[in-house]
Amino acid sequence: MIFRKLELSDFRNIEDLEMIPGEKVNIICGENAQGKTNLMEALWLFTGAKSFRQTKDSEFIRFGTEKARLKADFYSENREQNAEITFSPSKSIKKNGIDIKTSAEYAGTCGGVVFSPSHMNLFRDGPKERRRLADTSLCQLYPKYISVLSDYNKVLLQRNTVLKDARYHSGLIDMLDVYDEQLARLGGNIIRTRVAYCESLNKKAAEIYKGMSAGREEFFAEYKTTVLSEDEHAESSLSTADWAQKLYNALQTSRNFDFEHGSTSMGPHRDDIEVTLDGMPVRSFGSQGQQRSCILSLKLGEAKLLGEAMGEPPLILLDDVMSELDSVRRDYILNSIGESQIFLTCCDKELFSGLSEGKVFIMEKGKIKET
Ligand SMILES: Nc1ncnc2c1ncn2[C@@H]1O[C@H](COP(=O)(O)OP(=O)(O)OP(=O)(O)O)[C@@H](O)[C@H]1O
Ligand SMILES: [Mg+2]
Repeated sequence: MIFRKLELSDFRNIEDLEMIPGEKVNIICGENAQGKTNLMEALWLFTGAKSFRQTKDSEFIRFGTEKARLKADFYSENREQNAEITFSPSKSIKKNGIDIKTSAEYAGTCGGVVFSPSHMNLFRDGPKERRRLADTSLCQLYPKYISVLSDYNKVLLQRNTVLKDARYHSGLIDMLDVYDEQLARLGGNIIRTRVAYCESLNKKAAEIYKGMSAGREEFFAEYKTTVLSEDEHAESSLSTADWAQKLYNALQTSRNFDFEHGSTSMGPHRDDIEVTLDGMPVRSFGSQGQQRSCILSLKLGEAKLLGEAMGEPPLILLDDVMSELDSVRRDYILNSIGESQIFLTCCDKELFSGLSEGKVFIMEKGKIKET
């Protein structure tokens, strides 16, 4: 997708903004707390994904006002389109003038990849962030995945409640059979989808890592699921039904353990994505530079997969990550984004003084100016 025009009003610290971005590189410079990330967040919301910051919808509305409005004209799916998102405080979306009822209905409109400083901690954080990496893309690739994920989480919550309450009401235990069956069916679908995604992502990311590191180490990323033992590999040839069966068996086996702990220990909500370099987990053994290169490879790999699946280059947002990277990696990114439109923020304009094409904007107190 390519943004043609963006208009924001009362969105976070941005009272009123109109921006005509360039088709390729857009650099947004400004001091701290001027609204750069807010702008990136607004762009990101048009991909249909949730904010990349963990926020409530009401937080988007500028303090002291009642309604945030975001409007964009963009080119996607071989045509000019527009969308409008409002928060007042609940969210409503219009696409090409038509009301959109659910996130799933909007998802798939435009693909995007975002890369922010929090991603730099991907290997230091827990598995939740790594699962999110896969889920964010999968929700864009397969809008139905959003509802499978949300149904799974609902059943999981119910099962956990029963595990806790059954101590006092033993009659509830029978309900676990129903939940186990439902969890296995939904979870099997999630595991199958993530295993296939990780396999494709690995192929792209390994190629990128090779280019970035001059083939020094071998990159390998794989989905690690709790329903297999540590040394087993998740085979992509397994069907949803196969995974459902494995998860069902795991839930049955772990029931006593889960009962004692009052939570569900097996299933996609506990799974992880493991990245190794020459067979060594980068999480425990990778240097900071190696970890960054792995993260970059995964993000750029994600962009490639989205681009292929959607048949058009995805939007790329790089919030504040350029100054954390050395110049070799910075150049690598700018040379490998293909036809994508890219927005990147930084505090130091000089970082891109050598840039031959693209637009540079200055952001100050929520207002933007092209230089
Ligand atoms: N709902 C809101 N209403 C008004 N201001 C808000 C709202 N939400 C956030 N802000 C303010 O927006 C300001 C700019 O935030 P933003 O994260 O975009 O800054 P930034 O330019 O990315 O800075 P940095 O370089 O430090 O990352 C913050 O000072 C924050 O307090
Ligand atoms: Mg910021």
